[in-house]
Parts: sequence; C-alpha cells; structure tokens
Amino acid sequence: MNHGLEKKVVTGLALTILLIIMIGVYFITEPARQRFAREEFTRKASFLGAELYLVNECAVCHGEGGEGGVGPTLRDTELEE
Ligand code: HEC
Repeated sequence: MNHGLEKKVVTGLALTILLIIMIGVYFITEPARQRFAREEFTRKASFLGAELYLVNECAVCHGEGGEGGVGPTLRDTELEE
C-alpha cells in the first residue's frame, strides 16, 4: 500500500470509531435529555396555564382550584393530568 492511501485508511478508521463512540454517547444521554425537556415543558405550561386561568377569571365560575361552582369541575377530567 502506498503511503498516501494508508494515511487515508487510518483517518477513515479513526473517524468511524469516533462516530460509533458518539452514537453510543447519544444513546446513553438521550433519555435523560428527553425527560428533562418534558419536565421543563410541563412546568412552564403549568405556570403559564395557571396565569391564564387567573387572568381570564376562569376561577369565578370553575373555582380557585378548579373544583367547580357556576361552571362544572375541571378536576378528575381527561384535562387534568
Ligand atoms: C361565566 C362563567 C364561566 C367562566 C368565566 C368560564 N367558564 Fe368554563 N364553563 C362554564 C360553564 C357553565 C360550563 C359548562 C358548559 C356546558 O356544559 O355546556 C363550562 C365548561 C367548561 C369546560 C368543559 C368542562 C367539561 O368537563 O366538559 C372547560 C374545559 C372550561 N369550561 C374551561 C374554562 C376556562 C379555561 C375558562 C377561563 C378561560 C373558563 N372555562 C371560564 C362557565 C364558565
């Protein structure tokens, strides 16, 4: 094998190994990243939703805790997680 080709083969092999390692790291860290993203999303959505519930005065009819009043309860429905 001439010297130039040998260098390219070694480089290709090294990059392939690096790629395999990076895919492994991705598989190990991805579930935790997704869990964190989901929790963050839910936390922010709950916060914004609570604010909208107050600003739009939903509580006047549905109660402070969504327990119902003039309007029906919003608890124990498919809307509540
Ligand atoms: C003026 C009183 C009043 C206000 C203010 C009000 N609602 Fe209601 N809401 C009702 C009534 C009455 C019903 C029942 C309507 C029906 O069943 O036809 C209802 C029904 C609902 C339902 C359906 C519940 C179910 O189990 O079917 C949801 C969800 C809901 N309201 C959310 C909200 C949100 C969110 C707000 C604030 C943006 C809000 N409501 C503001 C009176 C109100």
